[in-house]
Parts: sequence; C-alpha cells; structure tokens
Amino acid sequence: MTTTTTALVTGANKGLGYETVRRLGELGWQIFLGARDADRGKRAAVELAEQGVNVEFVHLDVTSTDSIAAAVAAVGARITALDVLINNAGIPGAFIPPQETQAADFRAVFETNVFAPVQVTHAFLPLLRAATQPRVVMVSSGMGSLTITSDPDRVESTLLNLPYTSSKSALNMITSQYARELTGIQINAADPGYTATDFNSHAGYQTLTEGTDAIVRLATLGPDGPTGGYFDRQGPVPW
Ligand SMILES: NC(=O)c1ccc[n+]([C@@H]2O[C@H](COP(=O)([O-])OP(=O)(O)OC[C@H]3O[C@@H](n4cnc5c(N)ncnc54)[C@H](OP(=O)(O)O)[C@@H]3O)[C@@H](O)[C@H]2O)c1
Repeated sequence: MTTTTTALVTGANKGLGYETVRRLGELGWQIFLGARDADRGKRAAVELAEQGVNVEFVHLDVTSTDSIAAAVAAVGARITALDVLINNAGIPGAFIPPQETQAADFRAVFETNVFAPVQVTHAFLPLLRAATQPRVVMVSSGMGSLTITSDPDRVESTLLNLPYTSSKSALNMITSQYARELTGIQINAADPGYTATDFNSHAGYQTLTEGTDAIVRLATLGPDGPTGGYFDRQGPVPW
C-alpha cells in the first residue's frame, strides 16, 4: 500500500516557501501551504493547484499561538500524521549598524525567526510523531554561521545585522538541541544561499530552484539520512 507523504510549509505564499511547495508537489505529496494573509495564501494555493499540486491553504501566522493552534486543528482534521514540517517563514528586520542597534530592534525578528519555529514545532509534534519517518526542516541561513560570516571570501561577511544573524544562529542551536532529544525525528537546518526573493529585494544571485535545493533535500531524506545537521545545496555547512 502506498500512502501520500504530507507536508506543511510555513510562510509559503511566496519566495522560497512557495517554490518548496511547488517542488514537493511535483513529487505527488499532499502539501499544506501556510500563510499569515488569507488572500495571499489562497491565491498561491490556487495557482499551485492549477499546476497540478495537491495543496491546501492553511491560515498560519507563526507569531500567534492562537493561529498555530487553529492550524494544528485544521491540518489534524485533514490528516492523521504529518511527515514533514518546514519552518520557512522568516523576516530580515532592518539593516541597522550594530552600534546603533537596540534591544527593541531584535524583538520582531526573534518572534518570527526563533520563537515561532519553536512554537510551531512544539504544536505539531503529536502529528509528526504519528508519522513513520518524520522530518523537520528549519530554514536557517549562512548568515547564522559564525564560520561563514567571519570568512572574508563569503558574501555573508559583508552584511551586518545583529538581530537577523543572531536569530539564525539561535535557530541552528535549537535545531541541534531538538535533534539530540527527538531521536525519532530527523531535524536539520537548511542554508538556502543568497537567493533572489522579496527578502533581499531580489539582489540574491541564486534562482528559486537553487535556493530550495537544500530544503527539498532535507525534506526528502531517507530513513538513514542525517539529523542535527546544517546543510546548503552543496552539503554540510560549518556552524
Ligand atoms: N532569500 C535568501 O537569500 C535567503 C537566504 C538565507 C535564508 N533565507 C531564509 O529563507 C526563508 C524564506 O525567505 P524568502 O527569501 O523566501 O523570503 P520572502 O520571499 O520574504 O518570504 C518570506 C515568507 O515568510 C512569511 N512570513 C513572515 N512573517 C510571517 C509570519 N509571522 N507568519 C507567517 N508567515 C510569515 C512571508 O509572508 P508575507 O508575504 O505575509 O510577508 C513570506 O511568505 C526565511 O526564513 C529566510 O530567513 C532566505
């Protein structure tokens, strides 16, 4: 008997999340497209359904515990197990010189990039645990790597943004900590690479397909695949 693989992608009305839904849809998966704005989310789901993707919109503002609970109920009403959770929603925050940055500048960025993936993962654990080979992908960034951001040959070393970089470093540690406890779930961090999306006013040099390679690879891991790792489209990334 074959069963359809199920996945939820947060922040999937555009950019890397949308492309991830499209690519996993090509594999015949049943996908829940999370978006905080119902109009944008429904429009994206309709567009993808017209391309043959088995997709449903789920209203999900990842910074709202009520919205997360409603999304768990909505997804739980449709499926009995969630194979793959992709915590993709993220914001860059403002690029303010470090010496001018204040604690208040961190709050929205940490709400979305750090606290939300924890809340969403925690809330979906029962549905994930009901799956045969559950996987969680945390969409991180090379900007969260201390090694990469200190390497003058890398573009990531040219950008200064205290809240965003530290939020992704925190997400990396959260991924590692989860993986050490949740041995029945493969949980990894993806560095998409600098990809042309609204996130960077389309300054990124990678295509959406290149930017989703690591996410798709981690979403489609076999049972012998890694957990607690950090990968870009070429392979392992230094923390
Ligand atoms: N693009 C890159 O070069 C790059 C590189 C490394 C890592 N990343 C990471 O990749 C992820 C996706 O980025 P992207 O480039 O695809 O950016 P994007 O095009 O700006 O898309 C971000 C998505 O996140 C959603 N979002 C933001 N806050 C949300 C919330 N509270 N609840 C639900 N959804 C929310 C946005 O929804 P709205 O449309 O409603 O705003 C949008 O759908 C982010 O985590 C980012 O840090 C991107």
